[in-house]
Amino acid sequence: MDPHDYQALITAAHKARANAYVPYSNFAVGAVVLTHMGRMFPGCNVENAAYPASVCAERVALLSAYAAGEHDIAVLAVVADTAGPVSPCGVCRQVLLELAPLCVVVLANLRDAMQITTPGALLPSGFTGDVLRETWQRSG
Ligand code: THU
Repeated sequence: MDPHDYQALITAAHKARANAYVPYSNFAVGAVVLTHMGRMFPGCNVENAAYPASVCAERVALLSAYAAGEHDIAVLAVVADTAGPVSPCGVCRQVLLELAPLCVVVLANLRDAMQITTPGALLPSGFTGDVLRETWQRSG
């Protein structure tokens, strides 16, 4: 798949969205990760009666890629039935910054909204491992 074919990636995320398990929020989200090797990993949100145990579509796709040994992520596309492009939650922004800091992020809705952005723009001044490493160095 062409990493610049954002419409095709949105379509793939849309397909993943059909698998969302959302008995509590009824808010279905679909995502897809495309790696530089051309592999695609779908994600959807999967909820739980113990609400905090629910997982967002973005993290399912990202963790699925990592579980397959794929760390070289080119694009993350996300789609939901929102008025404008879907806005990832804070936890997903943090995970995205760690797992795919250099990827392109495509945010869309079910109509014609599309926003192209980056993990750094979604979470400016985010907390990263650099902060920990720098602190360890100073404390010897
Ligand atoms: N959700 C996602 O999967 N991704 C987002 O970008 C926003 C929120 C999920 C979490 C929960 O299952 C439902 O949407 C309502 O918050």
